[in-house]
Amino acid sequence: MNPGAVRTLPLVEVEDVSKGTYWLRFHAPAGFACDPGHFFMLSSPENGAPFLGRPLSIGDVHGERFGFLVRALGGATAWFRTLPVGSPIRLVGPLGRPFLQPERSVHCMVAGGIGLAPFFYLARRLRATQPGARIELRYGERSADAHAPLMEAEGELFDVVERFTDDGSLGARGTVVDGLDDRLGDPNAAWYACGPHAMLRALARRLDEAGATDVQFSLEERMACGFGVCQACIVPNRSGKPRYRLLCMDGPVLDPREVAW
Ligand SMILES: Cc1cc2nc3c(=O)[nH]c(=O)nc-3n(C[C@H](O)[C@H](O)[C@H](O)COP(=O)(O)OP(=O)(O)OC[C@H]3O[C@@H](n4cnc5c(N)ncnc54)[C@H](O)[C@@H]3O)c2cc1C
Ligand code: FES
Repeated sequence: MNPGAVRTLPLVEVEDVSKGTYWLRFHAPAGFACDPGHFFMLSSPENGAPFLGRPLSIGDVHGERFGFLVRALGGATAWFRTLPVGSPIRLVGPLGRPFLQPERSVHCMVAGGIGLAPFFYLARRLRATQPGARIELRYGERSADAHAPLMEAEGELFDVVERFTDDGSLGARGTVVDGLDDRLGDPNAAWYACGPHAMLRALARRLDEAGATDVQFSLEERMACGFGVCQACIVPNRSGKPRYRLLCMDGPVLDPREVAW
C-alpha cells in the first residue's frame, strides 16, 4: 500500500477558466514528485471542511508550481473555489497508478468534460521525453461555455486540438467518440482517455473494434480513503478473476479491455 505523503500547503492561486471550472495552484515543496495520471486527496480540515478528502488528478506540474483543474460539481468542488489564496489545503499523494508512456509516433488524448484535467501534464511529459512525437487532443463538452480555453498549451503541448460540443456551439457538433475516424486503426497511435462513464464505455467499444491495443483510460469512482482501506472504489473486472479491483490502488489508469463496462 502506498498512502502517499501528507502535506499541508497554502493555496497560491485560483484561476477561473470557464463556467464552473478553475485551477487550484500550489508551490511545489522540496521533494515534490508525481507522474501524469497520479491523483491526490485534497481536503482542508484547518478551514473546517465539512467533507472527507476528494480525489483530484494532477493537472499540471510546470516550473515551481503544480495545479489541479477542478469542476464545481457538488459540495467539495464548489467549496474549494471559495477559499482565499493562502488557505491551508491538505494534500495526500501522489496516489494510484499513473499513465504508462509508451514510445509512439502519435499520442491521442480523448477528454470529455473535466476529463481534460490529466492531459496537460501527460502532454508536457511526452513532449519532453518524445520530442518528435505528435500529440493530439480531442476535447468535448456539452456547450461552448464549459470549454476550458487551452491558451498556450495549444501548440506548445498539443499539436492538434479538435473541439466538440453536444449542441454544436463550439467546434464540431457531437461527442469526442464521433470524431475519431481519422485515427482509428492507426497502429502507431497510443490512446489515453478520461471523461464520463458513458463516453468511456462507448470509446472502449470503438477502440476495441478498431483493434487498438495501446489504450489507457483514467476512470472515476467515489473514493473515501484513496489508498485501499474503505473499499468504496470497486470496479468490476471483465475476466472475473479477481471479480473486482480497487480503482485507487489498481487504477485510476486502467486498460479498458480489463473493465466489465
Ligand atoms: C481518481 C479521480 C480523479 C479525479 N480528478 C478530478 C479532477 O482532476 N478534477 C475534478 O474536477 N474532479 C476530479 N475527480 C472527481 C472529483 O473527485 C469529484 O467531482 C468530487 O469527488 C465530487 O465531490 P463534491 O463534493 O464536489 O461533489 P458531491 O456533492 O459529493 O457530488 C456531486 C455529484 O457528483 C457525483 N460524484 C461525486 N464524485 C464522483 C466521482 N468520483 N465520479 C462520478 N461522480 C461523482 C455525485 O454522485 C453527485 O451527483 C476525480 C475523481 C477521481 C476518482
Ligand atoms: S478509495 Fe478507499 S479503497 Fe479505494
